[in-house]
Amino acid sequence: MSESMNMHVPHRIIPVVAAAADGTAASVGTGGKIRIRAMRYNPRDPASVPHLQTYELEQAEGMTLFIALSEIREKLDPSLQFDFVCRAGICGSCAMVINGRPGLACRTLTKEVGPDITLLPLPGFELIGDLSVNTGKWMRAMSERLQAWVHMKEEELDLSRIEARMEPELAEQIYELDRCIECGCCVSGCGTAQMREDFVGAVGLNKVARFRLDPRDTRDDDDFYELIGDDDGVFGCMSLLGCHDVCPKQLPLATQIAFMRRKMVAVGFK
Ligand code: SF4
Ligand code: F3S
Ligand code: FES
Repeated sequence: MSESMNMHVPHRIIPVVAAAADGTAASVGTGGKIRIRAMRYNPRDPASVPHLQTYELEQAEGMTLFIALSEIREKLDPSLQFDFVCRAGICGSCAMVINGRPGLACRTLTKEVGPDITLLPLPGFELIGDLSVNTGKWMRAMSERLQAWVHMKEEELDLSRIEARMEPELAEQIYELDRCIECGCCVSGCGTAQMREDFVGAVGLNKVARFRLDPRDTRDDDDFYELIGDDDGVFGCMSLLGCHDVCPKQLPLATQIAFMRRKMVAVGFK
């Protein structure tokens, strides 16, 4: 079991309605309110107990969960931890469990999930605090384990050479799988990943499928079998399809996993 893929998000959360830091009711504005119950927990503070803190705020037109959380942090509680970078569904940082379902805070409108919204950190990843998890550490460990980079022959490493041509259809297929933003939603939405800490998840299997397609990668199916031909790889997948349902980029995960399983079974029976 790799330490870097350990799960640290607490399983039991005590629901508590808490007030703002100054002791006043945690609310902004009047009318058209939404209530956000966010998990609060600092894993580095032995005195910290996981609980849900309720914030009440005015819903604005076109408000996303990211905007709502930013407003909470600005006006009610600067200590609330959550992640974001791009605010446009590109970086994958703002993924969290929204009313029981993994999703991106910056791509979720409060009017679609409110007025009562419960937010939890993504399970399956190291908890940094509150809604912030370390998906980067998990993704790096998975990428290193799957050697998720193009393996070229050494003599081909000539940086001054003009790039080799690729058929547009093939380039498009690779690009389709490369759209993964490593948000971690598929890992959190997968029962297998929650039970098996070393399972590479749909994100990992999708990566292998992507490099398998790449004509510049010299690895064959025997090599890929070494990486994913076990229960931590494609044979650990129980076709639960939670990954496919929650992927915010709508990647064809079910098809890719089924395809990779067929290919790896063929290698296993050789
Ligand atoms: Fe996120 Fe989808 Fe990539 Fe999984 S496959 S990390 S859900 S973008
Ligand atoms: Fe998990 Fe997706 Fe397989 S949810 S079990 S990786 S189909
Ligand atoms: Fe980048 Fe949401 S902030 S995906």
